[in-house]
Amino acid sequence: MAGISRPRGTEDLLPEPLARLNRVLAAGLQVAEAHGYRQIETPIFESTDLFVRGVGESTDVVTREMYTFPDRGGRSLTLRPEGTAPVVRAFWESPLRQAPLPVRISYSGPMFRYDRPGKGRYREFHQFGVEVLGESEPEVDAEVIGLAWRWLERLGVSGTSLQLNSLGDRECRPAYRAALLEFFEPRMAALPELDRERLRRNPLRVLDSKELAGEGILDHAPRTIDHLCPGCREAFERVQEALVALGIPFAVNHRLVRGLDYYARTAFEVWHQELAGAQNALFGGGRYDGLSELLGYPPLPGVGFAAGLERVAMISAPPPPLGGPELAVLSAPPAGQKAAVALADRLRAAGMAVLLDAGVRGLRAKLSFAERSGVRLALIVGESEVQERTVAVRRMAGRTQVSVPLEGLEGRLRDLLGNGESAGEGAS
Ligand code: HAM
Repeated sequence: MAGISRPRGTEDLLPEPLARLNRVLAAGLQVAEAHGYRQIETPIFESTDLFVRGVGESTDVVTREMYTFPDRGGRSLTLRPEGTAPVVRAFWESPLRQAPLPVRISYSGPMFRYDRPGKGRYREFHQFGVEVLGESEPEVDAEVIGLAWRWLERLGVSGTSLQLNSLGDRECRPAYRAALLEFFEPRMAALPELDRERLRRNPLRVLDSKELAGEGILDHAPRTIDHLCPGCREAFERVQEALVALGIPFAVNHRLVRGLDYYARTAFEVWHQELAGAQNALFGGGRYDGLSELLGYPPLPGVGFAAGLERVAMISAPPPPLGGPELAVLSAPPAGQKAAVALADRLRAAGMAVLLDAGVRGLRAKLSFAERSGVRLALIVGESEVQERTVAVRRMAGRTQVSVPLEGLEGRLRDLLGNGESAGEGAS
């Protein structure tokens, strides 16, 4: 067809896939609530500067992946590529900043990145995430990891592995950077251009270079944990001890660095075996104690994670098939239209889901549509039913029909539906 198609990398969320995402999200929100997190939503677009300063000028997200546009007032806006910088901004701009610290927040919604679309990788995708603001104790890092882990357990997801690293902080990272540069200096000429560029702009990113991964060089590269200052070392140990207390298995991964620049100390990702290659992260997160200052606000430690809902939904057990209404109300022309409209309204008010077909087309066509829609009982309202204050209840499975008085109809219908296949037998 020659119509206008949806933009590349976007999806129409049809009933089943959407129900799946919603189920995954609902489980996440419940687990977060049980840990004392409260849900907020931030705008889908923000000032471009929020991400340039927060996420980092030299990151792939900022240099290549943002949907940035001027609005009619000439301001530069960006469709949010992530939710952490917006949550920190929202904290400072709202009464949340007066709340007792730490503030525990959960959020979800669409995110946008101009990435190469592929399996589990979209230009519009959905995240669920949590952030704890105003707490620097490392046990809280383990709390957010634990929350995410319990969420996956509740969804019946297995085959995951938790990758953990410490990226150091302002105090120890400069020395680590210098050690990395010193290690790569004599090898510079042999490196692919992309990695030379990474070393110039953001040396830590070399550690997750796909280009170098196969070459073995990275196995000998200096490791962050050998360069941690005492504060970072103690924090990393405490995170690990708390994870052990929670019974959550993890692997310390010396090459784990994150694609966003705001992280300090703890960084983690949860990978799944079915999501191959560089796109295997179900979620990622870590501590970002310097982010608030990067955005021009007072210091505020923070830690959190975000998960791609599409990726989590992809590997979680499929939900039960979606059911539609079990009841249809059909008018039998030439009479019954008004009575059918009123009856459907009455049944819905009583909490029943009802398909209504009250037009003037023939009853046969209506019955056929109701059958194909999976309805179990069709309630037919024609001239005699209007006069007798009854309704003809037709059981679609056996094609048997009984007349039921309008008075007390709701109770009768509940009985009929509750009795499964034998419903209606013996009704008068
Ligand atoms: P991130 O690692 O950039 O972190 O994204 C988190 C998750 O979002 C990924 O693990 C992945 O599941 C999903 N995701 C990212 N890009 C795409 C895409 N193009 N298509 C589908 N899914 C995708 C953050 O966004 C940080 N804000 C996480 C965080 C919260 N750190 C601290 N607090």
